[in-house]
Amino acid sequence: MSDLPLAGKLGLVTGASRGIGHAVAEQLHAAGAHVVRLARSLVDRTTDGWTDLRCDVTDPAAVERAVGRVLAEPGLPDIVVNNAGIFFIKPVEETTPADFSRTIAVNLTASFLVTRALVPHLVRRGAGHFITIGSISDHVAFTGSTAYAASKFGLRGMHEVLRAELARTGVRTTLVSPGPVDTPIWDPVDPDARPGFTKRSAMLRPEDVAEAVLFAVTRASRVDVTEIRLLPTVYSPRG
Ligand SMILES: NC(=O)c1ccc[n+]([C@@H]2O[C@H](COP(=O)([O-])OP(=O)(O)OC[C@H]3O[C@@H](n4cnc5c(N)ncnc54)[C@H](OP(=O)(O)O)[C@@H]3O)[C@@H](O)[C@H]2O)c1
Repeated sequence: MSDLPLAGKLGLVTGASRGIGHAVAEQLHAAGAHVVRLARSLVDRTTDGWTDLRCDVTDPAAVERAVGRVLAEPGLPDIVVNNAGIFFIKPVEETTPADFSRTIAVNLTASFLVTRALVPHLVRRGAGHFITIGSISDHVAFTGSTAYAASKFGLRGMHEVLRAELARTGVRTTLVSPGPVDTPIWDPVDPDARPGFTKRSAMLRPEDVAEAVLFAVTRASRVDVTEIRLLPTVYSPRG
């Protein structure tokens, strides 16, 4: 029997094809978990310790199908990481209705869809852990972030309600809210070329966020890590 902290556990991570989700999946796997990764660019396959499913998590039918497949094999997740997200910076008047609703769909509605499909199963078992990847934008206002802030403040609200609904069920919830992390999400913004932005070399790394997730899910069952906020040590709050 392995003495890895997550041996025998099953993790599910949305948006695990790159960036933070990929790093979280790697660390859960390295800690002994079988990990299900969901993203649009993944190819369906199961290998030792991994199940990849191509899934657009904004599509309610696709999420139901993916959750059904996971429950059938490899089983009921112990750790669910709602991570898939998109980001852009535009003043409100340049933000199109399509930009706005897409951001809400990926960053907020998808988390709702995955959570609602799994909550009854985890509650019935009386154990499990929902991790929400929020952002500094779930509690601080940045210009150009109407859609992103709406999604992430909303996510924080949903996390709080979920905590209340899951109180005393044995199912834990943690909101992990990082400042800037050097992932492909920043490529279109090019922060190194923009004054006032944290340079990519100074940003957090995806594995820093993954370590925070791993910390939360490896505490003794009596310990409920409600929220973790991470910032780069050298940080430029932009105007
Ligand atoms: N990077 C930062 O500075 C930062 C800071 C705070 C919080 N966050 C949050 O961290 C999370 C991950 O961001 P990241 O920086 O790692 O971004 P990223 O590198 O762009 O990765 C985003 C991930 O989300 C997936 N995704 C996007 N739309 C999807 C959809 N409709 N269905 C399924 N998967 C979808 C992508 O996979 P496919 O394209 O293959 O579908 C990809 O795996 C997001 O929620 C973001 O808001 C990031």
